[in-house]
Amino acid sequence: MDGLMGCAEKRIGKRDMSFASRLVAWQKRHGRHALPWQHTRDAYRIWLSEIMLQQTQVTTVIPYYERFLAMFPDVSSLANAPLDAVMQCWSGLGYYSRARNLHKCARRVVDEYQGIFPSDPVLLERLPGIGRSTAAAIAVFSSGAKAAILDGNVVRVFARVFGLGDSVTDAAGKRRFWQLAVDLLPDSDIESYTQGLMDLGATVCTRGRPDCTHCPFSGTCIALSEGRVDELPVKKAKKPVPVRHVVMLLVYADGRILLQKRPASGIWGGLYSLPEITMEQDGGIVPDEEVASRVKLEVARWGNMESMAFMVPFEHVFTHFRLQITPCIVKLAGKETAGRTGEEIWQDAASVQMAALPAAVRKLLDVANRQGYLAFQD
Ligand code: ADE
Repeated sequence: MDGLMGCAEKRIGKRDMSFASRLVAWQKRHGRHALPWQHTRDAYRIWLSEIMLQQTQVTTVIPYYERFLAMFPDVSSLANAPLDAVMQCWSGLGYYSRARNLHKCARRVVDEYQGIFPSDPVLLERLPGIGRSTAAAIAVFSSGAKAAILDGNVVRVFARVFGLGDSVTDAAGKRRFWQLAVDLLPDSDIESYTQGLMDLGATVCTRGRPDCTHCPFSGTCIALSEGRVDELPVKKAKKPVPVRHVVMLLVYADGRILLQKRPASGIWGGLYSLPEITMEQDGGIVPDEEVASRVKLEVARWGNMESMAFMVPFEHVFTHFRLQITPCIVKLAGKETAGRTGEEIWQDAASVQMAALPAAVRKLLDVANRQGYLAFQD
């Protein structure tokens, strides 16, 4: 082994503990030991946690994880469930392709592996929704395999401790980070080592305001010694995030709310949402005075409008764009006259929060309810 690791280890100091043994010792004393997916070798539970933890923080995941396991306690119960039930349990957690892949993956594990997850990370990585790092984490925690993880937190730790100015967004930089991740792997204590990388990145070597005084690498960290902690890892130049504007219609008739199932691909795929009117035209935004007539035109599809009220707009941020949502509450006179296709349902207002809704829609319904527009029974 040459290059990076040789240099990195030299900088840490030959007589000093290796990176791995220092991290393992720190994890045992200061790491997290009471997370709900720890102290088990059950690959189903570990896989579920790793998928939920992709792009999502531990505190957000915990209640979803517990509810999900109560509903689907093992891989066959998940594989046998309808996708709608899975989406409902996932609703609010975001990045919904994870839930669709989770369901597909459960079916593959049941069909191809008799319900037992493979322990080889190479085989795990062939399953839907499991990338190289997730495959490694599952294999480490469920069977003690010697495999390397590399997510955003780990990149940050490596970039700072070893002073790496490579960008993971280019292929060569990514290769170097993965090579280092593999080279640093210890021959024992792989579980504590892997958990240690996650814990250090999440609790000490954080993106903003890292707690360097409590870091096990404060004596050897290159970024710290060179005053470059804020600069590393190098960030890619930020492109401006486009904004989309929509009016979201809360159409209310005879105690029921109109929900539309979103197409499987695209944002909120497979979830139920409210009808939307896009407010962009000719590169600009539809002028205010036109919005009400657009709403009237659209609503005529479902019945006769009795009243219309706009609520305060709010924003929902996705990875690649921001969605400016102007909620509009529309009451129909009497019963609805249309909207009973498979893609449109009229849901009782009292139970609307039970549907598989995205978090933004849940929030909109909540605000409308609290402002007395709907009078749900809470
Ligand atoms: N992030 C990704 N996997 C994790 C785990 N197993 N524990 C805590 N945070 C994580």
